[in-house]
Amino acid sequence: MAYQPNNNRYKNMTYRRCGKSGLKLPAVSLGLWHNFGEIDSLDNARKILRLAFDSGITHFDLANNYGPPAGSAEETFGHIFKDDFKAYRDELIISTKAGWGMWEGPYGDWGSKKYLVSSLDQSLKRMNLDYVDIFYHHRPDPETPLEETMGTLDLMVRQGKALYIGISSYSASETEAAMAVLKQLGTPCLIHQPKYSLFDRWVEGGLLDVLGNNGIGCIPFSPLAQGLLTNKYVKGIPEGSRISRHRGNGAIEEDAITEDKIAKVIKLNELAHSRGQDLAQMALSWILKDPRITSVLIGVSKPEQVSDSIKCLENISFSHEELEKINSILS
Ligand SMILES: NC(=O)c1ccc[n+]([C@@H]2O[C@H](COP(=O)([O-])OP(=O)(O)OC[C@H]3O[C@@H](n4cnc5c(N)ncnc54)[C@H](OP(=O)(O)O)[C@@H]3O)[C@@H](O)[C@H]2O)c1
Repeated sequence: MAYQPNNNRYKNMTYRRCGKSGLKLPAVSLGLWHNFGEIDSLDNARKILRLAFDSGITHFDLANNYGPPAGSAEETFGHIFKDDFKAYRDELIISTKAGWGMWEGPYGDWGSKKYLVSSLDQSLKRMNLDYVDIFYHHRPDPETPLEETMGTLDLMVRQGKALYIGISSYSASETEAAMAVLKQLGTPCLIHQPKYSLFDRWVEGGLLDVLGNNGIGCIPFSPLAQGLLTNKYVKGIPEGSRISRHRGNGAIEEDAITEDKIAKVIKLNELAHSRGQDLAQMALSWILKDPRITSVLIGVSKPEQVSDSIKCLENISFSHEELEKINSILS
């Protein structure tokens, strides 16, 4: 049946300004790294995307290599976009990336102009789009001159194939260097996409300051540590969970579950309940408490996880005592 979006879709979502730009993003955005590949259910993917949009999630994040197989998440998205979302293109912020290995030979990886230009052209075809809203360089390239990589991002904007550009997993100093080159070219860096969660706080060691001081937005990925920051692994590895599915391409594996991690999860769960939240909600709220964060980038395997996770917005403030408690649990 033809998709008819919820008329109230903008009522309950919060939109936060991305750094000093003109763009606002929903406080919760949806990533398609897992559960949208050729091996996954198209029907489930469609349900997730429809529910997300119906809930005010206007930003969908992809990358050339999402699947599996690589490229298939963009194809799934393109298929559903054509059926359901084409009429709403101007209400959507769609991002993609290149920077990890995508095809054989010397031109399908890292940060050369040759790779990035070809990759974006492929992504646009797979997604049935004329342009993406944000194109990211997916990881720093130690060998390609920064001027070449950043110059290519600037070119994409000038060609109208991307409206804004971003970088992912660049360190604080790499971000400063990239930002300076981009500024000179006249295409500001809109946003940074780093890994950030209660279990991985590296961005607090300088990156968040660089972003905040320079008006660059921040959209953390894997905010639930790929599902570890929920109560799902407390009693073992449930059927159907990401760990049980051995999806490869950086997906969490059994060795991430340690006694120490589970002990912390149990204590964090108790604290979340005392705040009237489940652990997933508290882990997301905890990231959003910082005004330098534009949006938190969630992944989901089921529509119910969208509904559950966006309830994090109901309580994003933490008392001093709660923050101290979290730090002591994690220490
Ligand atoms: N830039 C980069 O290098 C990079 C790298 C990784 C990811 N990303 C982006 O970030 C997005 C999110 O990453 P992620 O998928 O690792 O995020 P995540 O939110 O840390 O983990 C998602 C997983 O957590 C579980 N989950 C989510 N909501 C839940 C809930 N309410 N209750 C219980 N379990 C819940 C689900 O696990 P089950 O599948 O087990 O149900 C889901 O698949 C990706 O889709 C991608 O767009 C970017």
